[in-house]
Amino acid sequence: MAGEEDRLITPAQRDEDRAVERSLRPKTLAEFPGQEKVKERLAIFVEAARARREALDHVLLYGPPGLGKTTLAHIVAAELGVNIRVTSGPAIERPGDMAAILTNLAPDDVLFIDEIHRLHASVVEVLYPAMEDYALDIVIGKGPGARTLRLDLPRFTLIGATTRPGSLAGPLRDRFGVICHLAYYEPRELQAIVQRSAEVLGIAIDPDGAAEVARRARGTPRVANRLLRRLRDFAEVKADGVISLEVARQGLALLEIDELGLDAVDRKLMETLARVYGGGPVGLEALAGVVGEEPTTLEDVYEPYLLQIGFIQRTPRGRVLSPAGFRHLGLRPPKDLQATLFEASGGGPAAPGR
Ligand SMILES: Nc1ncnc2c1ncn2[C@@H]1O[C@H](COP(=O)(O)OP(=O)(O)O)[C@@H](O)[C@H]1O
Ligand SMILES: [Mg+2]
Repeated sequence: MAGEEDRLITPAQRDEDRAVERSLRPKTLAEFPGQEKVKERLAIFVEAARARREALDHVLLYGPPGLGKTTLAHIVAAELGVNIRVTSGPAIERPGDMAAILTNLAPDDVLFIDEIHRLHASVVEVLYPAMEDYALDIVIGKGPGARTLRLDLPRFTLIGATTRPGSLAGPLRDRFGVICHLAYYEPRELQAIVQRSAEVLGIAIDPDGAAEVARRARGTPRVANRLLRRLRDFAEVKADGVISLEVARQGLALLEIDELGLDAVDRKLMETLARVYGGGPVGLEALAGVVGEEPTTLEDVYEPYLLQIGFIQRTPRGRVLSPAGFRHLGLRPPKDLQATLFEASGGGPAAPGR
């Protein structure tokens, strides 16, 4: 399935990206630019846990892909001075797999579950007593003679990451003591990230070049780092190896990244809304079908940023292209667009179920 990792790149580039991504991860909170509120809260909790010499409360990190959830999970474990065990929702297929992971934890370890919203409900059941009481309930036997045996687990910290906090079962969400939302980064923060990455990778970029990359990275460090590396290739071939403002502009044009950092898929999504559906509303599945991407990819990777900058809106009746979205495509918004929006978001007389 296509994901954020797969935008406009070949499989070989993707593997290289993953390796480079690891090398670019900041190792401490102090080295991690941006997300000031999140860092402040995590620092306090880490400090308290260290002072009490016990495991940190369970932490849920949520926000769009590429903003630093995995990085922060590793940083928290490092700052606590404990081991981190990494897994993900789709990787844990059966309750027994979860039980095996839990019983293998050492005291105070961090267990990082990426994409935690994709855990199977039967697996989540195993997590409840583990998170709450550091215990594992094992059912022995079947039928009327069955009984439950409770096994103690070491104290541990669960760090969950998700792009979809709304898909998490309520009781699971409630068991996290610390819940942090990662928001898109400011260009100024992204510029610091680009400059740091350039230093780590030995890439020559001047401040104006870095600012341009930052401005067009859709608020996302992963995208900023990826653009930086594509531009290095471009600078080496087409220029003297230094990413200046002009080189950045030319290179980004070649990559089909527009002024606002939107790429070909973003534009196809918007064009489809505008030209095929007259601005919408249209359901996600239909939209994905025309655009040629998985619905989940559109929903998790592309839409959040387009929503953030106000180019599309999500309504109970489907996606709608906003007037600003039309204008970005160089199109004039239809006259009845405001009325459509109003109705589609449940305000109009035609809204269903009201
Ligand atoms: N605040 C940050 N500073 C520097 N690099 C960052 C920051 N946040 C994310 N990155 C980089 O962006 C890439 C993606 O981050 P990651 O933690 O994998 O995001 P997520 O888990 O939210 O998808 C990594 O290479 C990471 O080093
Ligand atoms: Mg991640």
